[in-house]
Amino acid sequence: MIITKNETETHAALEAFKLKNPNAIIGFVPTMGALHEGHLSLIREAKIHCDFVVCSIFVNPTQFNNADDLKRYPRTIEADQILLESVSCDLLLVPTVDAVYPCGVPDYDIDLEGLDQGMEGQFRPGHFKGVCMVVERLFSMVLPQKAFFGAKDFQQLAIIRKMTAIRGLPIEIIGVTIKRAENGFALSSRNALLSEEERENAQLIYRALKAGVDFGQLNRNSAAITAKIQSFFTDTDFEVEYIAIVDNDTLLAVNEVNENTTICIVVYYRNVRLIDNIPFVYTTATAS
Ligand code: PAF
Repeated sequence: MIITKNETETHAALEAFKLKNPNAIIGFVPTMGALHEGHLSLIREAKIHCDFVVCSIFVNPTQFNNADDLKRYPRTIEADQILLESVSCDLLLVPTVDAVYPCGVPDYDIDLEGLDQGMEGQFRPGHFKGVCMVVERLFSMVLPQKAFFGAKDFQQLAIIRKMTAIRGLPIEIIGVTIKRAENGFALSSRNALLSEEERENAQLIYRALKAGVDFGQLNRNSAAITAKIQSFFTDTDFEVEYIAIVDNDTLLAVNEVNENTTICIVVYYRNVRLIDNIPFVYTTATAS
């Protein structure tokens, strides 16, 4: 695996590869490190669709609105490198803040047509501006044809699609299904901040979401489904930040679920912010 630290080195490595493989498709998986099976599933997916796969590891300060969260964000670069090699990632870009923002953090603005207003946008002001800024910058460092993002960050995926379209970037954005532990807990870098026992307890989040979908089979009312999900966390150490039932395209809250809606949730558990979602689907299951 080639390792680069900045745009010049990355472009040089990509050009060398493209010289020998002129029609090669470059795939890109941007990450903030602390890699787990979820990230590896993105790399594996990229390897299926692309000839050369680049992964970046950059803990982007501009998307954290909480200094403590940034400080506590797990950093495991040596282990990450081994994992990336195990899935035959071709190039790892590990830039410094200066390599990403050589002239300092730029003024950046983008009108995301409201997609950034609700959910994360409400609780993490400025977060998506930081995400779009860094992803656009990383795209210019890697110049991929395809980029892969996890569906766990449901709102982020929709926003990156929107940003790519607004900027007219010739990059296909591919969303990859959430990778879950056997107990259903969605894999996330932040899970490393929990003990094994706590990760076991955190399966409650997925159980609550699934119960929400089951409940929605008979009662489509979003408020009722929200109350059902919320009830799972009563008298527990989990603190629900929000439950949002939104339209997949507009990300606006809906009064009733349908097959184009997703149930999103954020909870705090032991001071760790955990995010998850589940698409609403009609099943034959009976509401509980
Ligand atoms: O999802 C993430 O890990 C980050 O938001 C991303 C897309 C790598 C941008 O820093």
